[in-house]
Amino acid sequence: MIKKPKIFLTRELPPESMRILSEASELTFNQEDRVLSKQEIIRGVRDADGLLCLLTDSIDEEILEAAPNLKVVANFAVGFNNIDVAAATRRRIPVTNTPGVLTDSTADMAWALLMDAARRLSEGDRLVRTRQWTGWGPLQLLGADITGATLGIIGLGRIGQALARRARGFEMRVCYWNRTRLSEQEERELGVQYCSMDTLLGESDFLSLHVALNDETHHLIGASELGRMKPNAILINTARGPILDEAALVEALKTGVIAAAGLDVYEREPILERELYDLENVVLAPHLGSATIGTRTKMGNMAVENCLLACQGQRPINLVNGEVYE
Ligand code: GLV
Repeated sequence: MIKKPKIFLTRELPPESMRILSEASELTFNQEDRVLSKQEIIRGVRDADGLLCLLTDSIDEEILEAAPNLKVVANFAVGFNNIDVAAATRRRIPVTNTPGVLTDSTADMAWALLMDAARRLSEGDRLVRTRQWTGWGPLQLLGADITGATLGIIGLGRIGQALARRARGFEMRVCYWNRTRLSEQEERELGVQYCSMDTLLGESDFLSLHVALNDETHHLIGASELGRMKPNAILINTARGPILDEAALVEALKTGVIAAAGLDVYEREPILERELYDLENVVLAPHLGSATIGTRTKMGNMAVENCLLACQGQRPINLVNGEVYE
């Protein structure tokens, strides 16, 4: 019988993924519903063939160093900014992610935040729950029109494109900025128009961020960019917190530089910039972009498959550092 690989999993995954993983491997996993400390991960990976980790685990060189048998780092996320990929590549350890399966649920979340911030739904919910609602009023909680407005999308990858498709039903003008421009045919099919960053900032009624976090996109939106936005603009972030300068956003929301924001991600999760908690004109979601039963199951199965393939010496499907196989 072939020896099963030793896999260390940093937190429990959906049941179907757990079943596949426990049948195919010698599995050790964190049975407590919390993030592990670095020392705990180091202890866990010591004799592991595979590490299956989450976006809340910071996987650095020291952890990789502590795992001499490691054949893969499989992330249960599409983003992989939590992993030192360069260090893994130097050690010829493949790193994998879970692209595609969470596109629609994340675009749905961006859309939900956009609608909530525009129509002040969470503010209204707080009003009702705190028994402060005294009845319908002609000037009460007036929000922004979505239909016909201009939506700016920064980063037109899978999720950005899915957002553009949603905007069609709302007859929006959709402008985008991306590192590389789409072909004319792709732009036509999606109904989007390429803009400079300046035009995007200056013309968007809604601006949604969909770039990956890396050195180039850290604080891509700061005080200067916020200052170039329209006072009625609503900013949405479902990508990664550090793409947006959170302290600058607080200032912009407090002083009316922009009208509102909808956030699913933060610079120092789960801690938020202190004043954000008390601002009315921001919708605060606890990083729920991919949080549907179906999506999390698909993500789990994908991460498990990648992990098992690499442990068996095969090339995993969703490799982020293909160089290790060259
Ligand atoms: C979620 O944030 C992910 O990157 O999958």
